[in-house]
Amino acid sequence: MTEEKNLWGGRFTGKPDAVFAEFNNSFKFDKRLFYADVSASVAHAEGLFQAGVLTRLEAEKIKTGLATLLKRSEFDSNYFNDSTAEDVHSFIESKLVQLIGDAGKKLHTGRSRNDQVATAFRLWLREEITEISQIVRRLQKALLTAAEKQKDAVLPGYTHLQRAQPVLWAHWCLAYFEMLSRDRERLDEAWRRTNVLPLGSAALAGTSYEIDREAVARELGFEGVTANSLDAVSDRDFCVEFVGACSLIMVHLSRMAEDLILYASSEFQFIELSDAVSTGSSLMPQKKNPDALELIRGKAGRVFGHQAALLATLKGLPLAYNKDLQEDKEAVFDTVETVKICLQVSAIVFANLRLNETKTREAATKGYLNATDLADYLVHKGVPFRTAHDAVGRIVLHAISKNVEIQELSLADFQSFSSEVGKDVFEALSLEQVLASKNQIGGTSPERVFEALEAAKNEIERED
Ligand code: ARG
Repeated sequence: MTEEKNLWGGRFTGKPDAVFAEFNNSFKFDKRLFYADVSASVAHAEGLFQAGVLTRLEAEKIKTGLATLLKRSEFDSNYFNDSTAEDVHSFIESKLVQLIGDAGKKLHTGRSRNDQVATAFRLWLREEITEISQIVRRLQKALLTAAEKQKDAVLPGYTHLQRAQPVLWAHWCLAYFEMLSRDRERLDEAWRRTNVLPLGSAALAGTSYEIDREAVARELGFEGVTANSLDAVSDRDFCVEFVGACSLIMVHLSRMAEDLILYASSEFQFIELSDAVSTGSSLMPQKKNPDALELIRGKAGRVFGHQAALLATLKGLPLAYNKDLQEDKEAVFDTVETVKICLQVSAIVFANLRLNETKTREAATKGYLNATDLADYLVHKGVPFRTAHDAVGRIVLHAISKNVEIQELSLADFQSFSSEVGKDVFEALSLEQVLASKNQIGGTSPERVFEALEAAKNEIERED
């Protein structure tokens, strides 16, 4: 174990209490920022050289030293394990000084861990957001494939979990596709606000060295620099926005999971979950449990929790940096991991899913799901909607009493409720016509849905 020196040496005579040191330590989790912090340090070294603080030789020594640390971390699986460093920033600095000596001690000129951590965190998160967005896109692809595979399948649409009106399976898939498209937009926005450089804000007041912050930003691929040093070192809006975007992703995945859990139940039997994403019961041999989906639904709560935790951490903070901010890491790290795995598992679920079309069609044609269409039929015959609604209500009641569907009633039956009904009513009540009539933008007619499917495919393929 390498005993690392604290970064604050001089002012202290005593040693930190061991329990406190452990409490204060963030290296065990913020070592993930290693690569990002090294990259930011390389750019800072160049900034210091340009500012005339470091000689060319010193800057090169630092950069090569940092590159060596990176290499070692890749080859030595124990690299991070034998250190008592407080955090990733002190870890890197002490390793650098061990490696290159005095030049390494100059790297921290004009910066503080406060602007350093904000920079590394933004760099790291920027990459993660890009990756998550791609995983969302892969799930969208899986949804489109599931829609295409059973393009003509129909299932009941529900309101209040009561059968309402029939919809195409592809329409259901595209509903989730839409949600995920909005999720990607939100991720994009979070990315844009994350992609701003705080380095150069130093501890809180800005730096007195002539560092060209904009040049450093360009070097690191940031779109701009933060405008106020007090804000820059304590701003974690980008974390909240990111976790907020992820919370909505989890809302969507959780709703999707809930739909599928219901559909997989013996009561619905719309889908049979593949063995690849289900488990059995240790006790009941007949069981096939939708664990994958239940875990997705369950893990949503965990991400919402991180969002609440972040907001609570931030709300009482006086300007500028406070150590409370170290609590941002695990919330964001765990969100990243949770969202990624849930998205991946969702895509696996879809790749293995098959709708029982016979069952769903039967469910879509039983239970008076065409009652609204009968009312619409009467409206086309000139009956005011409210009157039509009332007549159809009575027709449904009559059908229920005879234990038949509406379309199984005779023409005479219909006419005893409303003289406007003609023999074309049976065509109007057919599943095909019921679907085809929902033909405005956003509706579930095959024409509209196939159009939407094409548009969705184009949206996805544009990025290939
Ligand atoms: N580990 C710290 C964090 O995550 C780094 C910044 C520490 N700054 C300080 N002034 N103690 O926030």
